[in-house]
Amino acid sequence: MTEVIDLFEKLNIERTPLGKYANRLHEYIAFPKLTGELGPHMYFKGKKMLNWSLNNYLGLANHPEVRKIDAEAAAKWGMAYPMGARMMSGNTDMHDLLEARLSSFVKKPDTVLLNYGYQGIISAIDSLLDRKDVVVYDEQSHACIIDALRMHLGKRYVFKHNDIESCEKQLQRATKMAQESGGGILVITEGVFGMSGVMGNLKEIIALKQKYNFRLLVDDAHGFGTMGKTGAGTGEEQGVQEGIDVYFSTFAKSMATIGAFVSSTKEVCMYLRYNMRSQIFAKSLPMPIVEGALKRLELLQTCPELREKLWQITHALQNGLRERGFNIGKTQSPVTPVFLNGTDGEAAQLVFDLRENYHIFCSVVVYPVVPKDVIMLRIIPTAAHSLEDVQRTLDAFSEIAQKLKTGYYNPEVPVMTQA
Ligand SMILES: Cc1ncc(COP(=O)(O)O)c(C=O)c1O
Repeated sequence: MTEVIDLFEKLNIERTPLGKYANRLHEYIAFPKLTGELGPHMYFKGKKMLNWSLNNYLGLANHPEVRKIDAEAAAKWGMAYPMGARMMSGNTDMHDLLEARLSSFVKKPDTVLLNYGYQGIISAIDSLLDRKDVVVYDEQSHACIIDALRMHLGKRYVFKHNDIESCEKQLQRATKMAQESGGGILVITEGVFGMSGVMGNLKEIIALKQKYNFRLLVDDAHGFGTMGKTGAGTGEEQGVQEGIDVYFSTFAKSMATIGAFVSSTKEVCMYLRYNMRSQIFAKSLPMPIVEGALKRLELLQTCPELREKLWQITHALQNGLRERGFNIGKTQSPVTPVFLNGTDGEAAQLVFDLRENYHIFCSVVVYPVVPKDVIMLRIIPTAAHSLEDVQRTLDAFSEIAQKLKTGYYNPEVPVMTQA
């Protein structure tokens, strides 16, 4: 008889896509620990850094009014109340109030709170679909969308990133398939793609509703609070909020807390309430999170100067980078990628230099997220940054780019934990 192997024997971390960095870069590039007050100036390994790595777009994470309500609500309620799932024992008027305020802000009839964005959207997508239904989705969709579709038992067609011809071609195939199966069609894309900063082609996708029968779900994690005249998101920005049938965003970015929401018609939201397994079988958001989210939403709506400041910093940074010849792709949002050419080793050395000598902290992305020998530094401007922060960063980036060009960085991946 063949022996059964020990399950753990095959868990070779070096062979997983990100695991190969674990032994070398752990706690430096992956799992770094930023300490101090949340914001643009934090500490990393004892050194004060100019920090560009938080999606704290509006600077609400450390806003005095936010800190005050968070502390007061935690003192008043503790972090437990209410216990249980919303469906069983975890529902309150405040949860309902937050849903109502979100609905009126994003101009949808109803909203369902989610205890985490990732889990919530997986369940929302899962419960909207059955095996007869067909999905058409953008190839650069966030992992939460991809993971939701891994559970889908019906057909799915992926379209080339933001390519409307490809989207239409897949809609034609999906239509044929749905006619055979007797199902419906769900198109999924994002408001703002979090890696490139490019907006989803919502307007053109929605225009395809004239020719094809489908519903559109948009993940607007990076657009909510940053895009549109009132900050209501990418649908507002493109003037097509009405054409989005299911609008999703997390509280993890502009709102600077945890939780998320999905907005749609009253019928769809009621259906979701009774069918999203990750919500029915999980504890509801604690009251301090809900009261904190209400305050954040109020600030987001009543302090347009926060969004104006975010865009002032964004424009200064992006114009400055472009003027200095940097390739920042086609971003249309605050998300600012900086593309450089170099190996993984050079990327690690460059980041090390940036942090140790220039005291600038930003995220770095390498293959397989970007093509081989492309280094992507991802800068997230926020309303809490200053124009001096921008200037310092532009000067530092000019220097590191020059060093990279002239072969200053060693192409070997260093062992950072021993650095
Ligand atoms: C596009 C997108 N969707 C969904 C999520 C998941 O949200 P959460 O952090 O609330 O789980 C994220 C990351 O936070 C995201 O960037």
